[in-house]
Amino acid sequence: MKILIAGGKGQLGVDCVRVLRETHEILAIDLDELDITTRADLEALVQKFMPDIIVNCAAYTHVDNCEIEKDLAWNVNVKGTENLLKCSENQGSRLIHISTDYVFDGSKKIPEPYVETDKPNPVSYYGKTKYESEKVVLNGADRHVILRPAWMYGVNGHNFLKTMLKLAVNHPENEIRVVNDQYGSPTWSYVLALQIQRIIDTHAGGIYHTTAEGYCTWFELAEYFLNTMQVPHIIVPCTSEEFPTRAKRPKNSILENRHLKERGINIMSQWQDDIDRFVSNFREDLIGEITKGK
Ligand SMILES: NC(=O)c1ccc[n+]([C@@H]2O[C@H](COP(=O)([O-])OP(=O)(O)OC[C@H]3O[C@@H](n4cnc5c(N)ncnc54)[C@H](OP(=O)(O)O)[C@@H]3O)[C@@H](O)[C@H]2O)c1
Repeated sequence: MKILIAGGKGQLGVDCVRVLRETHEILAIDLDELDITTRADLEALVQKFMPDIIVNCAAYTHVDNCEIEKDLAWNVNVKGTENLLKCSENQGSRLIHISTDYVFDGSKKIPEPYVETDKPNPVSYYGKTKYESEKVVLNGADRHVILRPAWMYGVNGHNFLKTMLKLAVNHPENEIRVVNDQYGSPTWSYVLALQIQRIIDTHAGGIYHTTAEGYCTWFELAEYFLNTMQVPHIIVPCTSEEFPTRAKRPKNSILENRHLKERGINIMSQWQDDIDRFVSNFREDLIGEITKGK
Protein backbone atom coordinates (compact mmCIF):
# COMPACT_ATOMS: atom_id res chain seq x y z
CA MET A 1 0.00 0.00 0.00
CA LYS A 2 1.01 3.64 -0.41
CA ILE A 3 1.36 5.41 2.94
CA LEU A 4 1.90 9.13 3.49
CA ILE A 5 3.43 9.91 6.90
CA ALA A 6 3.03 13.51 8.13
CA GLY A 7 5.51 14.48 10.87
CA GLY A 8 7.90 11.89 9.43
CA LYS A 9 10.96 13.38 11.16
CA GLY A 10 9.40 13.46 14.64
CA GLN A 11 9.85 10.91 17.40
CA LEU A 12 7.01 8.61 16.27
CA GLY A 13 7.25 9.52 12.58
CA VAL A 14 10.81 8.16 12.24
CA ASP A 15 9.80 4.84 13.82
CA CYS A 16 6.70 4.63 11.59
CA VAL A 17 8.90 5.10 8.52
CA ARG A 18 11.34 2.46 9.83
CA VAL A 19 8.61 -0.13 10.44
CA LEU A 20 6.15 0.54 7.60
CA ARG A 21 8.71 0.84 4.79
CA GLU A 22 9.43 -2.89 5.19
CA THR A 23 6.10 -3.76 3.57
CA HIS A 24 4.69 -0.54 2.09
CA GLU A 25 5.60 2.33 -0.23
CA ILE A 26 6.26 5.30 2.04
CA LEU A 27 6.33 9.05 1.48
CA ALA A 28 7.35 10.88 4.66
CA ILE A 29 6.96 14.65 4.99
CA ASP A 30 7.72 17.07 7.79
CA LEU A 31 7.50 20.80 8.48
CA ASP A 32 10.66 21.61 6.48
CA GLU A 33 9.05 20.10 3.33
CA LEU A 34 5.35 20.76 3.76
CA ASP A 35 3.31 22.57 6.39
CA ILE A 36 0.08 20.63 7.08
CA THR A 37 -1.67 23.93 7.81
CA THR A 38 -1.27 24.86 4.11
CA ARG A 39 -4.24 23.08 2.53
CA ALA A 40 -3.41 23.70 -1.14
CA ASP A 41 0.12 22.26 -0.91
CA LEU A 42 -1.16 19.24 0.99
CA GLU A 43 -3.96 18.65 -1.52
CA ALA A 44 -1.48 18.80 -4.43
CA LEU A 45 0.85 16.31 -2.74
CA VAL A 46 -1.97 13.88 -1.91
CA GLN A 47 -3.33 14.08 -5.48
CA LYS A 48 0.14 13.30 -6.83
CA PHE A 49 1.10 10.47 -4.43
CA MET A 50 -2.43 9.01 -4.09
CA PRO A 51 -1.91 7.34 -0.69
CA ASP A 52 -4.12 4.50 0.54
CA ILE A 53 -3.34 5.58 4.10
CA ILE A 54 -2.25 8.85 5.72
CA VAL A 55 -0.62 8.57 9.17
CA ASN A 56 -0.69 11.87 11.03
CA CYS A 57 2.26 12.01 13.44
CA ALA A 58 2.60 15.79 12.95
CA ALA A 59 1.60 18.00 15.87
CA TYR A 60 2.61 20.92 18.02
CA THR A 61 3.64 18.78 20.98
CA HIS A 62 5.25 21.19 23.48
CA VAL A 63 2.59 20.89 26.20
CA ASP A 64 3.67 23.95 28.26
CA ASN A 65 4.26 26.22 25.23
CA CYS A 66 0.73 25.42 23.98
CA GLU A 67 -0.54 27.54 26.91
CA ILE A 68 1.10 30.65 25.39
CA GLU A 69 1.33 29.79 21.66
CA LYS A 70 -2.39 29.08 21.42
CA ASP A 71 -2.92 30.12 17.78
CA LEU A 72 0.00 28.02 16.58
CA ALA A 73 -1.12 25.02 18.65
CA TRP A 74 -4.68 25.30 17.28
CA ASN A 75 -3.51 25.74 13.69
CA VAL A 76 -1.22 22.72 13.67
CA ASN A 77 -3.24 20.37 15.87
CA VAL A 78 -6.79 21.22 14.75
CA LYS A 79 -6.56 22.96 11.34
CA GLY A 80 -3.73 20.67 10.24
CA THR A 81 -5.83 17.62 11.12
CA GLU A 82 -8.83 19.15 9.33
CA ASN A 83 -6.70 19.53 6.19
CA LEU A 84 -5.45 15.95 6.39
CA LEU A 85 -9.01 14.69 6.94
CA LYS A 86 -10.33 16.61 3.91
CA CYS A 87 -7.49 15.33 1.73
CA SER A 88 -8.14 11.77 2.96
CA GLU A 89 -11.85 12.05 2.19
CA ASN A 90 -11.23 13.49 -1.30
CA GLN A 91 -8.66 10.82 -2.08
CA GLY A 92 -10.59 7.94 -0.47
CA SER A 93 -7.61 7.27 1.86
CA ARG A 94 -7.80 6.09 5.43
CA LEU A 95 -6.51 8.56 8.05
CA ILE A 96 -4.66 7.23 11.10
CA HIS A 97 -4.50 10.16 13.50
CA ILE A 98 -2.41 10.25 16.68
CA SER A 99 -4.04 11.81 19.75
CA THR A 100 -3.04 11.63 23.42
CA ASP A 101 -3.89 10.59 27.00
CA TYR A 102 -4.02 14.33 27.81
CA VAL A 103 -7.59 14.51 26.43
CA PHE A 104 -8.68 13.20 29.87
CA ASP A 105 -8.80 15.23 33.09
CA GLY A 106 -7.26 12.46 35.24
CA SER A 107 -9.91 12.64 37.94
CA LYS A 108 -10.60 8.87 37.96
CA LYS A 109 -9.47 7.14 41.13
CA ILE A 110 -5.94 5.75 40.67
CA PRO A 111 -5.32 3.06 39.34
CA GLU A 112 -8.66 2.83 37.51
CA PRO A 113 -7.73 3.17 33.81
CA TYR A 114 -9.44 5.30 31.17
CA VAL A 115 -11.11 3.32 28.37
CA GLU A 116 -12.01 4.53 24.89
CA THR A 117 -15.67 5.18 25.81
CA ASP A 118 -14.80 7.56 28.70
CA LYS A 119 -15.60 11.19 27.97
CA PRO A 120 -12.56 13.44 27.44
CA ASN A 121 -12.29 16.64 29.47
CA PRO A 122 -8.85 18.13 28.83
CA VAL A 123 -7.21 20.28 31.51
CA SER A 124 -4.51 21.83 29.28
CA TYR A 125 -4.68 23.79 26.02
CA TYR A 126 -2.62 21.06 24.32
CA GLY A 127 -5.19 18.48 25.47
CA LYS A 128 -8.00 20.74 24.24
CA THR A 129 -6.51 21.03 20.74
CA LYS A 130 -5.96 17.27 20.58
CA TYR A 131 -9.56 16.58 21.69
CA GLU A 132 -10.78 18.99 18.99
CA SER A 133 -8.62 17.14 16.45
CA GLU A 134 -10.33 13.88 17.47
CA LYS A 135 -13.76 15.46 16.85
CA VAL A 136 -12.57 16.51 13.37
CA VAL A 137 -11.59 12.92 12.55
CA LEU A 138 -14.80 11.48 14.04
CA ASN A 139 -16.78 13.73 11.67
CA GLY A 140 -15.24 11.87 8.74
CA ALA A 141 -15.85 8.36 7.42
CA ASP A 142 -15.91 5.26 9.67
CA ARG A 143 -12.68 3.88 8.24
CA HIS A 144 -10.51 6.50 9.99
CA VAL A 145 -8.58 5.68 13.16
CA ILE A 146 -7.66 7.68 16.28
CA LEU A 147 -4.85 6.37 18.50
CA ARG A 148 -4.12 7.55 22.02
CA PRO A 149 -0.58 6.79 23.20
CA ALA A 150 0.76 8.31 26.45
CA TRP A 151 4.12 9.44 27.83
CA MET A 152 5.93 8.61 24.58
CA TYR A 153 9.67 7.99 24.29
CA GLY A 154 11.92 6.74 21.54
CA VAL A 155 15.46 6.97 20.27
CA ASN A 156 14.70 9.99 18.02
CA GLY A 157 13.88 13.49 19.16
CA HIS A 158 13.34 14.81 22.67
CA ASN A 159 11.59 13.06 25.52
CA PHE A 160 11.43 12.70 29.30
CA LEU A 161 13.85 9.76 29.47
CA LYS A 162 16.51 11.66 27.53
CA THR A 163 16.08 14.63 29.87
CA MET A 164 16.58 12.36 32.90
CA LEU A 165 19.65 10.75 31.34
CA LYS A 166 21.19 14.10 30.47
CA LEU A 167 20.76 15.36 34.03
CA ALA A 168 22.28 12.16 35.49
CA VAL A 169 25.22 11.96 33.06
CA ASN A 170 26.13 15.65 33.16
CA HIS A 171 25.69 16.13 36.94
CA PRO A 172 25.65 12.75 38.77
CA GLU A 173 26.24 14.57 42.07
CA ASN A 174 23.01 16.65 41.80
CA GLU A 175 19.63 15.49 43.06
CA ILE A 176 17.02 14.98 40.30
CA ARG A 177 13.52 15.77 41.63
CA VAL A 178 10.76 13.92 39.79
CA VAL A 179 7.00 14.05 40.17
CA ASN A 180 5.64 10.99 41.97
CA ASP A 181 1.88 11.69 42.03
CA GLN A 182 1.04 11.56 38.30
CA TYR A 183 0.39 8.05 36.97
CA GLY A 184 0.55 6.89 33.37
CA SER A 185 1.33 4.12 30.92
CA PRO A 186 4.53 4.91 28.96
CA THR A 187 4.65 4.17 25.23
CA TRP A 188 7.76 3.31 23.23
CA SER A 189 7.30 4.90 19.79
CA TYR A 190 8.84 1.87 18.04
CA VAL A 191 6.29 -0.52 19.59
CA LEU A 192 3.51 1.95 18.71
CA ALA A 193 4.72 1.88 15.08
CA LEU A 194 4.44 -1.95 15.16
CA GLN A 195 0.93 -1.58 16.63
CA ILE A 196 0.04 0.84 13.81
CA GLN A 197 1.20 -1.76 11.29
CA ARG A 198 -1.08 -4.34 12.96
CA ILE A 199 -4.03 -1.93 12.80
CA ILE A 200 -3.33 -1.26 9.11
CA ASP A 201 -3.25 -5.01 8.40
CA THR A 202 -6.57 -5.63 10.15
CA HIS A 203 -8.51 -2.65 8.69
CA ALA A 204 -10.02 -1.79 12.10
CA GLY A 205 -11.50 1.73 12.40
CA GLY A 206 -12.37 3.80 15.50
CA ILE A 207 -10.65 5.05 18.67
CA TYR A 208 -7.88 2.93 20.22
CA HIS A 209 -5.87 3.38 23.39
CA THR A 210 -2.32 2.32 22.49
CA THR A 211 -0.05 2.36 25.55
CA ALA A 212 2.22 -0.16 27.23
CA GLU A 213 0.64 -2.52 29.75
CA GLY A 214 0.91 -1.55 33.43
CA TYR A 215 1.42 1.92 34.90
CA CYS A 216 3.88 3.96 36.95
CA THR A 217 4.62 7.49 38.12
CA TRP A 218 7.15 9.75 36.35
CA PHE A 219 9.48 9.11 39.32
CA GLU A 220 9.14 5.32 39.01
CA LEU A 221 9.71 5.51 35.26
CA ALA A 222 12.86 7.64 35.65
CA GLU A 223 14.24 5.46 38.44
CA TYR A 224 13.64 2.21 36.49
CA PHE A 225 15.20 3.70 33.34
CA LEU A 226 18.30 5.12 35.05
CA ASN A 227 18.86 1.87 36.98
CA THR A 228 18.55 -0.13 33.74
CA MET A 229 20.95 2.28 32.02
CA GLN A 230 23.36 1.72 34.95
CA VAL A 231 24.31 5.39 35.20
CA PRO A 232 25.10 6.88 38.63
CA HIS A 233 22.29 9.16 39.79
CA ILE A 234 20.48 10.58 42.80
CA ILE A 235 16.74 10.72 42.26
CA VAL A 236 14.19 12.13 44.70
CA PRO A 237 10.37 11.95 44.49
CA CYS A 238 8.31 15.17 44.71
CA THR A 239 4.69 16.26 44.30
CA SER A 240 3.15 18.10 41.33
CA GLU A 241 2.76 21.12 43.64
CA GLU A 242 6.53 21.08 44.33
CA PHE A 243 7.25 20.96 40.58
CA PRO A 244 4.86 23.50 39.01
CA THR A 245 4.51 23.62 35.22
CA ARG A 246 2.69 26.12 32.98
CA ALA A 247 0.23 23.48 31.76
CA LYS A 248 -1.80 21.39 34.16
CA ARG A 249 -1.34 17.63 33.76
CA PRO A 250 -3.80 14.86 34.67
CA LYS A 251 -2.93 12.95 37.87
CA ASN A 252 -4.33 9.76 36.37
CA SER A 253 -3.19 9.18 32.78
CA ILE A 254 -3.51 5.40 32.91
CA LEU A 255 -5.14 4.06 29.74
CA GLU A 256 -6.41 0.57 29.03
CA ASN A 257 -6.11 -0.77 25.46
CA ARG A 258 -9.63 -2.16 25.64
CA HIS A 259 -10.55 -1.84 21.95
CA LEU A 260 -7.28 -3.43 20.79
CA LYS A 261 -7.89 -6.33 23.19
CA GLU A 262 -11.54 -6.76 22.14
CA ARG A 263 -10.41 -6.99 18.51
CA GLY A 264 -7.54 -9.37 19.40
CA ILE A 265 -4.87 -7.05 17.99
CA ASN A 266 -3.16 -5.71 21.14
CA ILE A 267 0.61 -6.18 20.75
CA MET A 268 1.65 -3.70 23.46
CA SER A 269 3.86 -5.20 26.19
CA GLN A 270 4.58 -4.44 29.87
CA TRP A 271 6.26 -1.03 30.21
CA GLN A 272 9.28 -2.44 32.10
CA ASP A 273 9.90 -4.97 29.30
CA ASP A 274 9.86 -2.15 26.75
CA ILE A 275 12.36 -0.13 28.79
CA ASP A 276 14.63 -3.21 29.09
CA ARG A 277 14.58 -3.70 25.29
CA PHE A 278 14.92 0.03 24.60
CA VAL A 279 18.04 0.22 26.79
CA SER A 280 19.57 -2.99 25.48
CA ASN A 281 19.12 -1.74 21.88
CA PHE A 282 20.07 1.91 22.33
CA ARG A 283 22.17 2.38 25.49
CA GLU A 284 25.31 3.41 23.58
CA ASP A 285 23.40 5.74 21.20
CA LEU A 286 21.63 7.46 24.09
CA ILE A 287 24.88 8.06 26.03
CA GLY A 288 26.68 9.04 22.80
CA GLU A 289 24.04 11.66 21.98
CA ILE A 290 24.65 13.35 25.35
CA THR A 291 28.44 13.19 25.36
CA LYS A 292 28.56 14.45 21.73
CA GLY A 293 26.32 17.39 22.63
CA LYS A 294 28.55 18.46 25.56
N1 LIG B 1 5.51 12.82 22.98
C1 LIG B 1 4.59 12.35 23.80
O1 LIG B 1 4.82 12.10 24.99
C2 LIG B 1 3.19 12.06 23.28
C3 LIG B 1 2.27 11.45 24.13
C4 LIG B 1 0.99 11.18 23.66
C5 LIG B 1 0.65 11.51 22.36
N2 LIG B 1 1.55 12.12 21.56
C6 LIG B 1 1.16 12.45 20.17
O2 LIG B 1 1.89 11.60 19.29
C7 LIG B 1 2.15 12.28 18.05
C8 LIG B 1 3.63 12.22 17.72
O3 LIG B 1 4.35 12.81 18.81
P1 LIG B 1 5.94 12.94 18.79
O4 LIG B 1 6.41 12.79 20.19
O5 LIG B 1 6.50 12.08 17.71
O6 LIG B 1 6.07 14.48 18.37
P2 LIG B 1 7.31 15.26 17.76
O7 LIG B 1 8.57 14.51 17.96
O8 LIG B 1 7.19 16.66 18.25
O9 LIG B 1 6.99 15.21 16.19
C9 LIG B 1 6.01 16.01 15.60
C10 LIG B 1 6.51 16.39 14.23
O10 LIG B 1 5.52 17.21 13.60
C11 LIG B 1 6.21 18.27 12.95
N3 LIG B 1 5.33 19.41 12.74
C12 LIG B 1 5.03 20.40 13.61
N4 LIG B 1 4.24 21.31 13.01
C13 LIG B 1 4.03 20.88 11.75
C14 LIG B 1 3.33 21.41 10.62
N5 LIG B 1 2.64 22.57 10.71
N6 LIG B 1 3.36 20.74 9.45
C15 LIG B 1 4.06 19.59 9.35
N7 LIG B 1 4.75 19.03 10.37
C16 LIG B 1 4.74 19.68 11.55
C17 LIG B 1 7.35 18.59 13.88
O11 LIG B 1 8.34 19.35 13.21
P3 LIG B 1 9.30 20.36 14.08
O12 LIG B 1 10.03 19.47 15.04
O13 LIG B 1 10.16 20.97 13.03
O14 LIG B 1 8.37 21.30 14.77
C18 LIG B 1 7.82 17.20 14.27
O15 LIG B 1 8.75 16.67 13.36
C19 LIG B 1 1.58 13.69 18.23
O16 LIG B 1 0.29 13.73 17.69
C20 LIG B 1 1.47 13.86 19.74
O17 LIG B 1 0.46 14.76 20.07
C21 LIG B 1 2.83 12.39 21.97
